Amino acid sequence: MKYFIKTYGCQMNINDSEKIKGILQTQGYEPATKEEDADLVILNTCTIREKPDQKVWSHLGEIKKLKSKNPNVKIGVCGCMAQRAGYEIASKMPFVDLIFGTKNIHNIPKLLEDVKVGNRAIEILEEEDPLENILDSYPTVRDNSYCAYVTIMRGCDKECTYCVVPFTRGKERSRNPQSILDEVKSLVDNGVLEIHLIGQNVTAYGKDIDYPFYKLLENISKIEGVKRIRFTTGHPIDMTDDIIETMASLPNMVNHLHLPFQAGSDRILELMKRNYTKAYYLNRIEKLKSKVKDITFSTDIIIGFPTETEEDFQHTLDVVQTVEFEQVFSFKYSKRPNTPAYHMEDDLSDEIKTDRMKRLLEIQKAITSKLMRRYENTVQKVLVEDKKENTYIGRTTTNVWCNITSSNDILGKEVEVLITKTGFQSLDGVVQNIL
Ligand code: 5AD
Ligand code: SF4
Repeated sequence: MKYFIKTYGCQMNINDSEKIKGILQTQGYEPATKEEDADLVILNTCTIREKPDQKVWSHLGEIKKLKSKNPNVKIGVCGCMAQRAGYEIASKMPFVDLIFGTKNIHNIPKLLEDVKVGNRAIEILEEEDPLENILDSYPTVRDNSYCAYVTIMRGCDKECTYCVVPFTRGKERSRNPQSILDEVKSLVDNGVLEIHLIGQNVTAYGKDIDYPFYKLLENISKIEGVKRIRFTTGHPIDMTDDIIETMASLPNMVNHLHLPFQAGSDRILELMKRNYTKAYYLNRIEKLKSKVKDITFSTDIIIGFPTETEEDFQHTLDVVQTVEFEQVFSFKYSKRPNTPAYHMEDDLSDEIKTDRMKRLLEIQKAITSKLMRRYENTVQKVLVEDKKENTYIGRTTTNVWCNITSSNDILGKEVEVLITKTGFQSLDGVVQNIL
């Protein structure tokens, strides 16, 4: 039996898919290289904005054709859209055999039993399942041998008014620290060099178990063989001084941070219920810049939240210009069912949102170009994670892709690279030293 999983959305979904693959392999399934060759096709879905929803609906339309060609193939839908709209999918797409939400991935073996005997299996848990920790005991099938995602918490207790995540991922629950440390140890024993801690809001880690996030960072840092630690995503309000001090003091903590600010105007931030002001956000960035050597930033921005005026938008542009992010991910506001902002009129036309997005990207382009030029003739530490033809590929500690020429085999090694050329999205360089 062969499986194929198509993953939409964020790192949480990527890591969930890696877990699902691990579970399927314990059930005797092997990976298929394409959808057409699989006995079981699973879509792991995202529902953060309307666009990802539309992608899933149209992919399901395609998959229906697959099933008419091969009636024996089983189709599954999971992830955030399944959690939010699983029953709607079930009624509109009767050929889907298996639907499960984000809180019951550990129940796949049981659900597959039903599917195998020809039943339709649908399980969407409203409440968190205390047995979810069984997931930690299943293997994880990872695509990247050197950089590994490690989920340290699930869910989100923030109530950002635009966001569907509290409804799709449930309440914040921190994973047991010992289980995390054991996983990290076993990853480095198997050749992994970079540990990327993930969760909807990792900076809130440990609040429910009285174990602060900075302590987790310190303990991971001590494990021999951990070359690099990253984490995504944090909320500015939880970006406390002790986390910043820890980022500054640990030798294997990278000097890059993804810290979404969403909007620059205090009025919009309040409507979004982000619980901070523009000045507070800028203060966190200032502090990080002063403590963590050569730190770089990336961020998420929502454009055109209900009632956003040109003046509000100018505050967003001001933050972009003040911080100088290396990368900006900007999204047009999209009204999501169940969210507190759902009842607000989505009053900005697509034309205005598009125009603001264009202006923001224009400004950002100039900033990125300027920042990238700064790398020229510098020596950067790069962790080499891939090789394409004769070029090795890796990321700097600041999270920039680097193409490297080397006569030695440097795959899976950390190297010092002299940057010879800077592009818009990537750097080129020559190896100076293998670390
Ligand atoms: N509309 C547009 N963008 C959104 N995001 C989250 N919810 C919405 C929404 N309703 C963006 C935020 C978040 C990123 C993952 O997606 O910027 O940080
Ligand atoms: Fe999409 Fe959010 Fe779910 Fe990630 S957590 S898959 S971004 S809806």
